[in-house]
Amino acid sequence: MGRFDFTTRPNRLAQHSVKWKSSEQDPDLLQMWVADMDFLPFPEIQEAVTQYATNYIFGYTYASDTLYQSIMDWEKMEHGYEVERDDIVLIDGVVPAISVALQAFTKEGDAVLINTPVYPPFARTVKLNQRQLVAHSLIKKNGRFELDIDQLEKDFIEHQVKLYIFCSPHNPGGRVWTTEELAQIGYLCQKHGVLLISDEIHQDLVLFGHRHTPFHTVDETFKDFSIILSSATKTFNIAGTKNSFALIPNAGLRKQFTKQQLRNNQHEIPALGLLTTEAAFRYGKPWLTELKPVLERNIRFVAEYLSSHTKIEVMKPEGTYLLWLDFSAYALSHEEIQDKLRKEARVVLNDGITFGKEGLYHTRFNAAAPFETVQEACERIAAAFGHKTAK
Ligand SMILES: Cc1ncc(COP(=O)(O)O)c(C=O)c1O
Repeated sequence: MGRFDFTTRPNRLAQHSVKWKSSEQDPDLLQMWVADMDFLPFPEIQEAVTQYATNYIFGYTYASDTLYQSIMDWEKMEHGYEVERDDIVLIDGVVPAISVALQAFTKEGDAVLINTPVYPPFARTVKLNQRQLVAHSLIKKNGRFELDIDQLEKDFIEHQVKLYIFCSPHNPGGRVWTTEELAQIGYLCQKHGVLLISDEIHQDLVLFGHRHTPFHTVDETFKDFSIILSSATKTFNIAGTKNSFALIPNAGLRKQFTKQQLRNNQHEIPALGLLTTEAAFRYGKPWLTELKPVLERNIRFVAEYLSSHTKIEVMKPEGTYLLWLDFSAYALSHEEIQDKLRKEARVVLNDGITFGKEGLYHTRFNAAAPFETVQEACERIAAAFGHKTAK
């Protein structure tokens, strides 16, 4: 028995949870979509928030030295990255930081490359900011996503790409990029003058013995043309408290970024985000250590169960708790698949098409819930998509 409870499913129905909203009208639905976790928070985070609620007056708040130090300590301890305090720029979210970076480093009409399928706000942000979207497809190889580096170079040249929004580890599919792959990408960006934004929000959720490499640690020179965006919110399930950080060692880029942040009046962080981040990084390691085998067991189960009971092809992630499911072996349209999941299986997954055109016939399954919930979701899916319904 561990110190933490990963078996109780918190009742989120009365909590305005985005993930569980549709269950408020329809309680039979199982929600396995939005990327937060159905686990209880760990005590030190609850204590920090209670302490704040009891003793503070909820006024404007500045980021303390101890918060900066907690980020630096975490990066060094967990990822071997010795971050300089001045390189850290706090911002309320990684997605808002992507907007700021796009606005700071590119202008309307500039080409911005992403690797599809990918977390939907990447494409949305590029399009809404009137930049030209270059969707470079990942290739499925050996049961995982890989990058076609030659094609990437062709895309850089053909579209005159200015900026590359890279997801590391990758969502969906959970690729934990190797140092060699990151080096190839970095040298290509260097060669073609492409700025890289590395979204590393899933950095701590690497599983099955894989290791995350921060982009800046691959080669010292990569700090010149890239920024890392990350956060404690995904790792420690505190996404609703809103806080993240950008690591920008290049002083020129940092100045452009912070100026744009100020232009948007986006430089203040909610007090709650500041204190949950610090509590998470200071005290969260034992919780994270217990969480990982729970996620690994859930992921193994989903992969094995769905593979043996259905024709769904499961991409087993190397990191993240998000599985990419391929339903193309069924003689069903994309809409019929989504419909069957919701109406027959009564399970809500992310619609794959929102991640890019490669998401046709796909969905994304969030396995960060107590084992029984994950098991029930798989059994429901298998009952609806068992071999009998295959062509
Ligand atoms: C790759 C990626 N980036 C960013 C986010 C969200 O970041 P934030 O809540 O800090 O805006 C998510 C959430 O799932 C994600 O998967």
